[in-house]
Amino acid sequence: HRHLLGIEGLQPQEILGLLDRAEEAIEVSRQVEKKKAVLRGRTQINLFFEASTRTQSSFEIAGKRLGADVMNMSVSSSSVKKGETLIDTAATLNAMHPDILVVRHHAAGAVELLANKIDCSVINAGDGPHEHPTQALLDALTMRRHKGKIARLVVAICGDILHSRVARSNIILLNALGARVKVIAPSTLLPAGIEKMGVEVHSSMKEGLRDADIVMMLRLQRERMAGSFVPSVREYFRYWGLDREKLSYAKPDALVMHPGPMNRGVEIDPEIADGPQSLIREQVEMGVAVRMAALEALAEHLPNK
Ligand code: CP
Repeated sequence: HRHLLGIEGLQPQEILGLLDRAEEAIEVSRQVEKKKAVLRGRTQINLFFEASTRTQSSFEIAGKRLGADVMNMSVSSSSVKKGETLIDTAATLNAMHPDILVVRHHAAGAVELLANKIDCSVINAGDGPHEHPTQALLDALTMRRHKGKIARLVVAICGDILHSRVARSNIILLNALGARVKVIAPSTLLPAGIEKMGVEVHSSMKEGLRDADIVMMLRLQRERMAGSFVPSVREYFRYWGLDREKLSYAKPDALVMHPGPMNRGVEIDPEIADGPQSLIREQVEMGVAVRMAALEALAEHLPNK
C-alpha cells in the first residue's frame, strides 16, 4: 500500500507483518544509538489539525529514528487560521516535495480525501470518529507481547464508543485477528448499528467484563458532545468508571489499557491507571515502535526505492 488510511482493507497477514516489524523497532529504540537509515534523505511532514501529545511526538521520534527529516506543521499558527482549506494546505505542502505526510483531522474521511489529491504517501493519525490505525496496531502489539497472541483473546472496550476512532480501528483489527470483542457503554455512547461490526454489546460492566483478558478504557470525549452529557460525569464514574471492584469482574490476570489522554476519576480510577495490571505507559513505548514499522513499510513503496 502507498498509504495507511485505516485498518479496514488490511489483510490479517499485513497486520501481523507490521507487528513483527514493530518488534524489531522496539530493539532499535532500546539501544543507546537509536538510528536506522531507512528514511535517510526523505522528508516527513506531520500535519495535525487536532491536539495530540502521544501520536504527534511518537511520529516525530519514529521518523527521526529512521533517518528522515521531520517537520511538524503548526496548524494553530498557519494560514489555516486565515481561511486556507485542508486541500489547499496539503497541496501547498505537497509542492515542497515531502515523501510522507502524517495527518490528523477532526472530520471522518478528511485524510483519505487528501490522500487522493496529493502525490506523497499519507498516514492517517486519526480522522474524526472514523479510524486511528496506528493506535490499534500499538494496542495489538502491546496485547500480543503480554498474552502471546490475539486470536481468542476476550477484549472489553469500555466507554465512549460513539466518538471513538480508537474503538473502531481496534474492533476491525481484533475481529480480523480472531479475538472476541465486547463493548460496554451507556446507550447514549453507542453508535447505532454497532452490533453489525461483530461485537457483543453490554451496558453493565459486571456482565461486559466477565471473562475479559484485556480491559480497554476510552476517554469520555466531551469536546465532541454538542449538548449536555447524559449521564452526569459523577454517575458515569459510578457505573462505568474502572475501579478496583469493577476490575475484579474481569479475569484475575486481566490487563488494563487506555489510549490516552486519560481523564482520571472519570473513566478510570488513578489507583487502577497506575496499578500493577496497567499497560498504559507501555502502550506509549509501543506507539513509537509501531509508527517506525508503518513508516518503514511505506518507505518500500516510495518512488526510487
Ligand atoms: N492516543 C492518542 O491518539 O493520543 P494523542 O491524542 O495524545 O495523540
